[in-house]
Amino acid sequence: METMQGPNKKPTAGTRKQIALASWREEIAGVVRGQVRLDEPMSRRTSLGIGGPADLWFEPENAQDLSGALAIARRRRVPWRVVGAGSNLLVADEGFRGMVVHLRADFVPVEVGSRKDLVRVSYSAGMRCAAAHRHAAESELVGLEFLAGIPGSLGGAVRMNAGTRLGDMADVLEDVEVATADGCRSVPASELSLGYRKAAIPRGGIVTRVAVLLRQVDPNTLLSLRDRVRAETEWRDAAQPKGKSAGSTFKNPPGGSAGRMIDEAGLKGRRIGGAFVSEKHANFLMSDGKATAKDMLELIDLCRSEVEAMFKVRLELEIELLGVRDAD
Ligand code: EPU
Repeated sequence: METMQGPNKKPTAGTRKQIALASWREEIAGVVRGQVRLDEPMSRRTSLGIGGPADLWFEPENAQDLSGALAIARRRRVPWRVVGAGSNLLVADEGFRGMVVHLRADFVPVEVGSRKDLVRVSYSAGMRCAAAHRHAAESELVGLEFLAGIPGSLGGAVRMNAGTRLGDMADVLEDVEVATADGCRSVPASELSLGYRKAAIPRGGIVTRVAVLLRQVDPNTLLSLRDRVRAETEWRDAAQPKGKSAGSTFKNPPGGSAGRMIDEAGLKGRRIGGAFVSEKHANFLMSDGKATAKDMLELIDLCRSEVEAMFKVRLELEIELLGVRDAD
């Protein structure tokens, strides 16, 4: 690496940044037990297939490993974010200057216990929602049917209080384990202020374990629930597009539907570069495989301004941004 701009000259600001980057990455890579990747292309890690490199991608081995890396990040003032399945995320074309933490599906093992007449099951936050639903269904436990149609990870589902017409995380969550730079602790669901597509995760914390309370039911109830999940899956396949998207782009405004508003604003099929509004469901802003984050952001702005002009409603993003600032 070039460190000086000629003999006896002081390093430039750009060079100083590079040295600082090399040194925090080396420190983290030197002490952690998990997997570390440098300059990881985020386009490979998101359902939209968009995003430049993250300085460091980190898959911790266990909670202590994670806390250790978070402590280094805090001391070195390195920004970090946790990314699950990347199914609800738009990453900047420039990528992310900092550390991205990713928890594996088997970060912690599944644990099953009891709580009065309910069954408590605790899953790794890195597990996919569909896998958790499958595990519960195979164990003849009910309560996670709503997860069947959510493409993300359980940790992401908690952070968003994700849900479908069959329910949401708040209905079943008992508590979560949160890792911080100072160690791990359990946080009851009642302290997470769960609301429509939102939760308050303690500052500086990463949800590592998700504990839910499920019910054992008779075989007939089980069968009828399976039918509801099947019907819901068929409805979703008919109502929502396949392809590169991050699901619903905007939250539904109180009493309204973002999809219907964008549709009524006449924006279905509207295209900017490689980004376009789905013809099937207008709240799905998609990529044709060549879209940049810039295209997506311009399309988001367009939808917002047309909806605002027509309905006097400012749509709030449901997707999360990384390396990009929301206009709000
Ligand atoms: N609509 C239109 N035009 C469209 C799209 C929708 O008129 O282009 C109308 C529909 O006919 C319906 C209403 O808008 O009357 C609501 O649409 P829909 O039933 O498809 O549900 P949604 O509110 O858009 C929500 C979740 C979805 C979830 C479905 C089903 C939000 C923001 N989205 O969609 O979640 O799959 O319910 O449970 O709450 C996601 O979070 O990424 C996601 C896809």
